[in-house]
Amino acid sequence: MTSEPIKFLLVDDTPENLVALEALLRRDGLKLLVARTGSEALELLLVHDVALALLDVQMPVMDGFELAELMRGAERTKHVPIIFLTAGSRDPQRVFKGYESGAVDFLLKPIAPLILKSKADVFFDLACQRRELSAALRLNEMFVGVLGHDLRNPLGALMAGAEVLRLQIADEGQLRTLSRMKSASHRMKEMIEQLLDLTRARLADGIGFSSARKALDIGELVQRAVEELRATNPDREIVIEADGDCTTWGDLDRLLQLFSNLVGNALHHGTPQTLISVRIAGDEREIVIRIHNGGVIPPELLPAIFEPFRGRTNSASRSGGLGLGLFISQQIARAHDGDLGVDSSSASGTVFTVHLSRRRE
Ligand SMILES: Nc1ncnc2c1ncn2[C@@H]1O[C@H](COP(=O)(O)OP(=O)(O)O)[C@@H](O)[C@H]1O
Ligand SMILES: [Mg+2]
Repeated sequence: MTSEPIKFLLVDDTPENLVALEALLRRDGLKLLVARTGSEALELLLVHDVALALLDVQMPVMDGFELAELMRGAERTKHVPIIFLTAGSRDPQRVFKGYESGAVDFLLKPIAPLILKSKADVFFDLACQRRELSAALRLNEMFVGVLGHDLRNPLGALMAGAEVLRLQIADEGQLRTLSRMKSASHRMKEMIEQLLDLTRARLADGIGFSSARKALDIGELVQRAVEELRATNPDREIVIEADGDCTTWGDLDRLLQLFSNLVGNALHHGTPQTLISVRIAGDEREIVIRIHNGGVIPPELLPAIFEPFRGRTNSASRSGGLGLGLFISQQIARAHDGDLGVDSSSASGTVFTVHLSRRRE
């Protein structure tokens, strides 16, 4: 467990009230931050994450409702639970707008100490549980990372061994078995790499890019990705059309991975009868790549399709994917000041569109 305390924010313009609240709520593992005005409170919120805010409603300059509305307006403090301490009828006759964003409670003054204490304890316990959960999740993700990393070496040995055997055997049947073993290890290797990318995205700042970005031609990159996939899918038709200046700067390996993911998806998840088309268009500002295939993505999958493990259907899991490809692809596009989006309908099929912002250097 981390030693960092859980924090509550207490805001009241009357110092005696703050002293009383502090005495009532004090407990091990809890730090109470106190503010006498709304602006002091906002300053504290800039530096601290709080698990609960207790706001006096009647305060000069900025009252508790105004403060709460500012809190609800900022991403960082949007979901902080709020308990208003109100004098009831003497308070401003207006409605607090912001209930929909999260927990809000009202306590009438004079405050009944036991009631306040037990409500505050609930939020303290919730914050502790949330912290334990996120520590467990982190550990889990770290575990996946370590495991993935350590699986690479024995798998590498298997793949090298298969290569040696290929040179030694001549029997057709044995060669077929060997080639199935090779493509299975290749798929396994890809999955391990994806899990490692996910771990890096979660635990480090992102999936990681080579430090030196190179000048490259997106048309050539797409061509390369497609050639590699054609080798393993000789019966499928893939057409590429490039238009305009498609040169930019970027991470070659990651961009190759992006196009290989998207065209690979079109092959695995699209309808086999429809050809796959890749259109690349470069203009002054950006390069747009559209990858089209037949088949529709179920509408209920679409909202979460770029989230890790979320986009998978049951039928798709037969193809042996993990459901990480689109998540990683979107991270790659975004790291190139671009984005990845999708349109899918039964009338026109499925199109994934990559926007990459043009870079000169
Ligand atoms: N081009 C496509 N056409 C139809 N469905 C797709 C396409 N690309 C992705 N999908 C759907 O989105 C899911 C998630 O894709 P992805 O993140 O690449 O994971 P995986 O390919 O490992 O399943 C796929 O399982 C599939 O259901
Ligand atoms: Mg995929």
